[in-house]
Amino acid sequence: MLKGLIIFFGLLALCYAASVGSASNATEVCQSEDELWGGEDIRKFYFCLDGQVITDECDAGYYFVNNATICGCLPSDLMKPSCVNLDIKVPDCTGDSKLRPQAADDVSSFYLCTSDGAKELPCPDGKAFVDQDGYLGCFAWSQWRTLRNCVDD
Ligand SMILES: *[C@@H]1O[C@H](CO)[C@@H](O)[C@H](O)[C@H]1NC(C)=O
Ligand SMILES: *[C@@H]1O[C@H](CO)[C@@H](O)[C@H](O)[C@H]1NC(C)=O
Repeated sequence: MLKGLIIFFGLLALCYAASVGSASNATEVCQSEDELWGGEDIRKFYFCLDGQVITDECDAGYYFVNNATICGCLPSDLMKPSCVNLDIKVPDCTGDSKLRPQAADDVSSFYLCTSDGAKELPCPDGKAFVDQDGYLGCFAWSQWRTLRNCVDD
C-alpha cells in the first residue's frame, strides 16, 4: 500500500515505463513488481502486491497520468484538456438542454434534466460519458479514450 500512499502525498512515484493504458490485461496481470501503471479508466491506477494486481483510484477531480515527465494523480486543470471536463455548468434545463444528457465535471457522470431539475447520474460501471462527433452517452473506457483522443503521449 506504500505506493498508494506516496501518490496521495502528491509525490511522483515510480511508474512502469511502457505505455500500458491500452493493454487489455493491465487490470489483471502484474505489469511491474514495484512500479505503478495506469489502465483505460483514467481515474485508476494499479500496482502489484504479492503477485496480485491492486487497484487504487485517484481522489475525486484527479486523474492518473503516466508519461515521460509525470506519473501520478493530477488535478483536472493540469491534465490534457481532451481528457477532462473543464468549466462545466449545471444545465439550466431549458430549451435543448432539457432533452440532452450533458457532461459533468466527473467524466464518468452526466447530467440529466428531470422534473426536479438537473440530476448528476453515474455511467454504468466501466463506462464514461461522451458527447462528441455524434456520439452521445456512456461508452466503455477504451472507446471513450479513442473518441476523446485521450491517449498517452
Ligand atoms: C498480458 O500480460 C502479459 C504479461 O504482462 C503480456 O506478456 C501480454 O502481452 C499481455 N497482453 C495480452 C493481450 O495478453
Ligand atoms: C505528461 O502529462 C502532463 C499532463 O497531461 C502534460 O502536462 C505533460 O506535458 C506530459 N508530458 C509529456 C512528455 O508528454
